[in-house]
Amino acid sequence: MEQMMRDFFLFMAKNKTFTSLAKRYGLRFGASRFVAGASLKSSISAIKRLNDKGMPVTIDHLGEFVDNEAEANDMTNHCIEAIEAIAKEKLDSQLSLKMTSMGLDISDELVMRNMRRIMDAAVRHNVFITIDMEDYTRCEKTLKVFKQLKSEYDNISTVIQAYLYRSLQDVKDLNEYQPNLRLVKGAYKEPAEVAYPDKKDVDDNFKKLIETHMLNGNYTAVATHDDEIIRFTKELVEKHSIPYDQFEFQMLYGIRTERQDQLMKEGYKMRIYVPYGNDWYGYFMRRLAERPANVMFVLKGVFGK
Ligand code: FDA
Repeated sequence: MEQMMRDFFLFMAKNKTFTSLAKRYGLRFGASRFVAGASLKSSISAIKRLNDKGMPVTIDHLGEFVDNEAEANDMTNHCIEAIEAIAKEKLDSQLSLKMTSMGLDISDELVMRNMRRIMDAAVRHNVFITIDMEDYTRCEKTLKVFKQLKSEYDNISTVIQAYLYRSLQDVKDLNEYQPNLRLVKGAYKEPAEVAYPDKKDVDDNFKKLIETHMLNGNYTAVATHDDEIIRFTKELVEKHSIPYDQFEFQMLYGIRTERQDQLMKEGYKMRIYVPYGNDWYGYFMRRLAERPANVMFVLKGVFGK
């Protein structure tokens, strides 16, 4: 039953009609539990509250799968505005982005031009950028762009997904760039030809990725809400005396907030991924897919508290 609901929400995440309706009608159905606001302006107080608690964030202007150049340029401008706002408001924040918003599916030339505009602004304002990893069909291309940008700019990282068979090799191959990587389980619906279907295998692979990347001496963002992965990371850090400034934990805005507070109080760096913007629908559906129990929040949003 849980698997069926998961598949249902991942299928719904790609629905274009609902995506455009959602943009028009603003944050609904309990989405504000996971999305800080419909604009950066309306999200700044939530970001400052986290910063004041001692938690750095990475902000993400929601949007993905853009299929025309004008929209890709527009999304790029939004990212640059976000970088400027981080500097102006003195936020302790990085920026995460999805390259399909910058034209990844349209042309190599367009995505590189847009990414370089973003990276130049990020260098100017001393803001760190993470390229989120999208579905498998974009993985190879994303890594190719990342490697190119990493050879031009220092302040950039990307994401590796533990559910993909290829990921351990990717982490090994990327080592020559000594990259800062965010490691995650993976949030998209992928076929068994490319991704482990069983949670246990994903978790085992996640641990291998963390161990490999950390012991290679690279900065590692362990992005998970899973207590077992967190326990494994802490143990690895103690066992190998890995300095606390070589890694951080990351969690999503609104998920397991008490655990976020606890890790911070234990002295770990705890960064919160804060999404905002009116294109919240796909992100929200993926969060429901991860934990169908969250559907209760949706029902409360629809029918009142
Ligand atoms: P798992 O899903 O096994 O959850 C462990 C426990 O955490 C659950 O039992 C539950 O208690 C709690 N939990 C998890 N999800 C919850 C939810 N939605 N609501 C409430 N409780 C929940 N993916 C991707 O493909 N590309 C990317 O770029 C990113 N980027 C990214 C950044 C950050 C900061 C995070 C934390 C995650 C991502 N992800 C991602 C998403 C990631 O791939 C994965 O889908 C989610 O983190 C859920 O996996 P967990 O590791 O939390 O474990």
